[in-house]
Amino acid sequence: MTIFDRLNGLADPTRSRLLLLLERRELAVSELCAVLQLPQSTVSRHLKLLADDGWVEARSEGTTRQYAMAASLGGAAQKLWQTVRDEVAETGAARHDAERLRGVLAARRQTSQAFFRGAAAQWDGLRAELFGRRAELAALPALLDERWTVGDLGCGTGQLALTLAPFVRRVIAVDGSKAMLAAARRRLKDAGNVELRHGELEALPVERRALDAAVLFLVLHYVAEPAAVIAEAARVLRPGGRLLVVDMAPHERTEYRQQLGHLWQGFGAEQLGSWIESAGLTAFRYLQLGADPEARGPLLFAATARRN
Ligand SMILES: C[S@@+](CC[C@H](N)C(=O)[O-])C[C@H]1O[C@@H](n2cnc3c(N)ncnc32)[C@H](O)[C@@H]1O
Repeated sequence: MTIFDRLNGLADPTRSRLLLLLERRELAVSELCAVLQLPQSTVSRHLKLLADDGWVEARSEGTTRQYAMAASLGGAAQKLWQTVRDEVAETGAARHDAERLRGVLAARRQTSQAFFRGAAAQWDGLRAELFGRRAELAALPALLDERWTVGDLGCGTGQLALTLAPFVRRVIAVDGSKAMLAAARRRLKDAGNVELRHGELEALPVERRALDAAVLFLVLHYVAEPAAVIAEAARVLRPGGRLLVVDMAPHERTEYRQQLGHLWQGFGAEQLGSWIESAGLTAFRYLQLGADPEARGPLLFAATARRN
C-alpha cells in the first residue's frame, strides 16, 4: 500500500479523532460511538475506510468487533500520522474525546466488576474447569531467579527437576539409585539444562558453594542421618543460597516403615529446626501445607532456610 492510498484515510477530522483514540487502546464500535457522540452508522463507515486504507485493524471478541490502530504502519505512514496527530491532539474535540473515553473505560470496569459480583460464587468452579485445579502451582516457579543453579537432591524419577528446569539456568539432580536415575533420564530427555548425577546425599557429587538453591523433596524420611544430609546440603549452597525441605509432618502410619521403607515417621518443626541450626543455616521457616483432597498420605510441610 502506497502513501497515496493512505492519504484519504486521514483527510477527515472524525477519522483522525478515531485514530487518536485507537492509537492507545482497543475499542469496540459502541464505545467509539459513545466517545465521539456519533451514530453507529457514521462510525462504522469511517472505520471501514480506515481499515481499507490500512490504518486500523479489527478482531472479533465474542459478538463484538474490537478496533485498534494497525500494529505496523511503516515509516512513511507513521510520519504522516505524527504530523496529523500533533494537529488533532490540540483540538478541543480531541480533549473532550479523551474525557469521555475515561467515562467509557470506567463503565467497562463496572461491567467486569458486575460479572465478578455475580460470578464470585461460581468462580472457583469455572477457574478449575477452564484452567485446572492447580494452575497457580504450574506458574509459581516463574518467581525463581532465571540465573540460578538448583540442586534436586534425591531427585528420584525427576518430577521436580522437570518442573524447575524451564525456569532456571541449570538443575543438578542427584540420586543414589541407578534405577531411579534411569527413569529420570527418560523423563528429562528433552530438558537440556538438567544434569543427572549418581551419588549419595551424605557425600554429594557437587562442588562446595555451587548451588543457589537446594531441594530435598520427600527424601529426608529415607535417610539414616538427616542431620548429616542437611549439613551436606549446606556445604554445596553458596552464601545466601536457600534450602527447601518438603516432607511429611509427624504421623502415625507405622505401616509405612514396612510397606515403603520409611525410616522416619515425619518431622516436626523443632527437630528439623535443630538440624538446620547445627548445619549453620539461618532464617528457618516451617509451614504446614494444606491438604490436597485427592491425596491419601499424611500432611506435608515446607521448610526453608538460608546459608549466611
Ligand atoms: C521418595 S523418592 C522422592 C524422589 C523425588 N524427590 C520426588 O519428590 O519425586 C526418594 C529418593 O531419594 C533417594 N535417596 C534416598 N536416600 C538417599 C541417599 N542417602 N543418597 C542418595 N539418594 C537417596 C532415593 O533413591 C529416591 O529416589
